[in-house]
Parts: sequence; C-alpha cells; structure tokens
Amino acid sequence: MDFRARIVTWTDVEKWCSSIRDQVIDSFVPDMIIGLSRGGLVPARILSDTLWIKDLISIKTEHWGITATKSGKAILRDPGKLNLNGRKVLIVDDITDTGQSMKLAYDFVKSQEPAEVKTATMLHITRSSFIPDFYGELVDQKNWAWFIFPWNVYEDLDNLLSKVLNGRASLEELKTLLLKNFDLKIEDTLLETVINDFVKAGRIISNSGVYSREKIAASQ
Ligand code: ADE
Repeated sequence: MDFRARIVTWTDVEKWCSSIRDQVIDSFVPDMIIGLSRGGLVPARILSDTLWIKDLISIKTEHWGITATKSGKAILRDPGKLNLNGRKVLIVDDITDTGQSMKLAYDFVKSQEPAEVKTATMLHITRSSFIPDFYGELVDQKNWAWFIFPWNVYEDLDNLLSKVLNGRASLEELKTLLLKNFDLKIEDTLLETVINDFVKAGRIISNSGVYSREKIAASQ
C-alpha cells in the first residue's frame, strides 16, 4: 500500500462542525471568523451560520505539493494588512496534519493585534506541531490517512489515479487499484460519476469502458 485514503461524507462534516460549535459556545464568543482557503472555506461558512457570526473572511495558505505530499511546505499568500484591532477571531481550517498552515495563519493573525484568537479544525492529527483550541475529531498519527473532503473529490481522485493508472483499466479495475494502493473504499456511483466527468474534461480517455491517461491508437 502506498498510503491510506478515506472518503469524508457531508454527514462527517456536519458532525465535526457541530462539535466545534458546541465547544466554542461553551468557552469563547468570537465576533469574526477567518477561514483558511481553500480547505477551511466550507467549515468556516458552516460555523459562520451556526455561531451567528456574519463577519467571515478568508486568507489563503498554499502548499508546495499535491495530494498526500507529506512534506508539502506551507506558505501564506500575502493577505496585506487586516484591521483586527479589538476583534475576537476564530480561525478555521479543515485539518491540522503537520500544523504548518494553521501556525502560519495564527502567527499572521496575532501580528495584526486582535483582542483574542482561537483556532478550530474538523480533524486534528496527533503528529501536528500546532494544537488547535477546538477540533471535531482527534486522529492518532498511526491512523494517518489522506482525507478526501467532499469539496476536494475531483482533485484528490485525479491525483490518486495518476499514481496508479499506468495502462488501461475498467471501472472495476480502477476501484481495485484504489483499494489496493490506498485502502480506499468508494461507492460505485461516486467513482462512476467522477470518472465520466474526467472523460468529459479530457483528463482520462475512455475506449468502450476501458480507461487510460494516454490516447490509444485506433488499431490497438
Ligand atoms: N491536508 C493536509 N493533510 C491532509 C490530510 N491528511 N488529508 C486531507 N487533506 C490534508
């Protein structure tokens, strides 16, 4: 196995976000949310709703790397100067894994001198060097996986497939490749929809239900 990958459902997202909401309500009254783009955008929007915090902005962290590049180094896209004077800020991301993105964002927000800053992620992996104040679920690092969030399915499957699809494969074989290499369990309907969209987008070639990355000569 290369590494483990897991599909995250919308139900998981709802569960983790409501757990964060309950923890925040018990201990902190933020008046502003900063979502880390892109992974923290959806949870930040959900928390903006469930905590009645209309002031929601985002700052962007970027990685040198792609899906499951464990060493991917984080950088903060220059957010300029934010006026956070006197604000009580909740920073939200999807996951603290290495903890780099959240640390960068936290240090930046702190430098803008708000009244208070707290951090929240849906998933927190124990290896992370940064521990958020609130998290939906703790993941032991021995259970490390690449979590495929509902808003990143196309990008992640594209990356995972590019690691394993060398020749040609049927849908069933693609499913087996994903299971063997990443222990990934994926619903047939989801895989089928995504693969069909990859074909439409020209990212994968379909030849009567056999898929490949390269154009296959007509004679083959
Ligand atoms: N971003 C950083 N680490 C991740 C992980 N383990 N799964 C999904 N997204 C991530």
